[in-house]
Amino acid sequence: LFAGESTFVKGVVAMSGLPPADRLEVCFAGRSNVGKSSLINALTGTKGLARASNTPGRTQEINFFTQGPERYLVDLPGYGYANAPLDVVAKWQRLLKQYLSGRQNLRRAFVLVDSRHGVKPVDEEIMALLDSAAVTFQCVLTKADKVKAKDREHVLEQVRTALSRHPAAYPELVLTSSEKGDGISTLRSIVANLT
Ligand code: GTP
Ligand code: MG
Repeated sequence: LFAGESTFVKGVVAMSGLPPADRLEVCFAGRSNVGKSSLINALTGTKGLARASNTPGRTQEINFFTQGPERYLVDLPGYGYANAPLDVVAKWQRLLKQYLSGRQNLRRAFVLVDSRHGVKPVDEEIMALLDSAAVTFQCVLTKADKVKAKDREHVLEQVRTALSRHPAAYPELVLTSSEKGDGISTLRSIVANLT
């Protein structure tokens, strides 16, 4: 993954709009505002590639980005966002579930969890969905710069315990800060090494 190597492909609001499943794909899921879009920008080294914002619910489509000629990075709408109209939330959730359980080339889902908050019930719901779809998922802790080192172990333990209940969970956790760059190269090589 090198800067300049990634481009925006398209934003999708229905399964019928998905690009052809002709290459390996990874996606970034997580609660609204957890830092999915910021992480994609950090991973690709391309500021402003994925639209990040302090307004929860910013990403409202499934956004596809290329990473080289061989794979897609997919930015998903956040879940657990309470302030959108109910019918809109229901529509996103349906699309999210269809995508996560029905995308044949989806090689791994990264489930992002805020380092300050740990795994919440809505995260567990997504993890359960990934279990039943047999999609391997890996937890990425975000915003590590916002947590003091002494509070870190507690959250890590909570996340490990939650993951132990999910058969589709890949046990290795990645602690990241898109702001400071922590863990970004680690995650980049995890993505690059998937085959
Ligand atoms: P939705 O699209 O609404 O679901 O949000 P998202 O998960 O894509 O989050 P986004 O990347 O837009 O980031 C949300 C907010 O968190 C923005 O204000 C970011 O600047 C901030 N943020 C993201 N990553 C980090 C980080 O590593 N450290 C800090 N301090 N802030 C971050
Ligand atoms: Mg976003």
